[in-house]
Amino acid sequence: MTLTQPSTSAPERVATRRTVLMCRPDHFTVSYRINPWMHPEDPTDTSLAVRQWETLYAKYQELGFEVQLIDGIAGLPDMVYAANGGFVLDGIAFGAKFQHPERQPEGPAYMEWFADHGFAVAEPESTNEGEGDFLLVGDTIYAGTGFRSDAASHDELRRIYGREVVTLTLTDPSFYHLDTALAVLDPRGGSDSIAFLPRAFDAASLDILDERFPDAIHVDDADAAVLGLNSFSDGKNVIIASRAAAFERQLRERGFTPHGVDLSELLLGGGGVKCCTLELRR
Ligand code: ARG
Repeated sequence: MTLTQPSTSAPERVATRRTVLMCRPDHFTVSYRINPWMHPEDPTDTSLAVRQWETLYAKYQELGFEVQLIDGIAGLPDMVYAANGGFVLDGIAFGAKFQHPERQPEGPAYMEWFADHGFAVAEPESTNEGEGDFLLVGDTIYAGTGFRSDAASHDELRRIYGREVVTLTLTDPSFYHLDTALAVLDPRGGSDSIAFLPRAFDAASLDILDERFPDAIHVDDADAAVLGLNSFSDGKNVIIASRAAAFERQLRERGFTPHGVDLSELLLGGGGVKCCTLELRR
């Protein structure tokens, strides 16, 4: 008798334990508008934001992640989006330098946390919004520009980490940070290690993504519209917006285990799962 593997079988996915930094949204609200998702004229519910955030925090703990916390600061409502607080790799925290004055005090607050927790801090020279725009896939840093981080910050990344840095240009104001348009599914890399929204990138960037990731998941507009791509993966478990239904199916077909969480209140600020998560790599 011969056993044949079904050709459609999904690859085995491997989870590795992640260490992340988060910020409880005790001071969350929408009081200014720096992206198209934000409507300061509409009410927000801070206690609901906290409860929803706590489901994400609990999920990470359930998955065995180490979760560190930074205290939120009154008057900095976007501090919950910890991904923007810096980019951390090889024990070096590259500090953020925010584009909008409303968020600028967050940069030093996060740098102080990094220094207090044993990271070497590299002070930023040009505008950059941390892991919102910088994503590590394998040994390469994919760096977004177009709305927030200045392309000059990509040179700083090259100097600091000595790795390949690939610039990707974003073109749709609703997908203003790289982590709103591209999700890293397998941090080790590979042809199928990311998901992205093709129409969020310029033609040159799309060519790069198609060439390097020919088997990537392309998400649909409905999933992008709930920031489905703004997700976080340990290589096997992918925490996504619970409303991203088609993306959830696509992930299952590829052998990943999706976990939906509802962060609808934080979506009012233009952020989701990944925005609330800054990976700490020693
Ligand atoms: N209101 C915040 C801003 O516009 C949301 C940040 C979302 N963060 C992210 N990593 N995409 O800056």
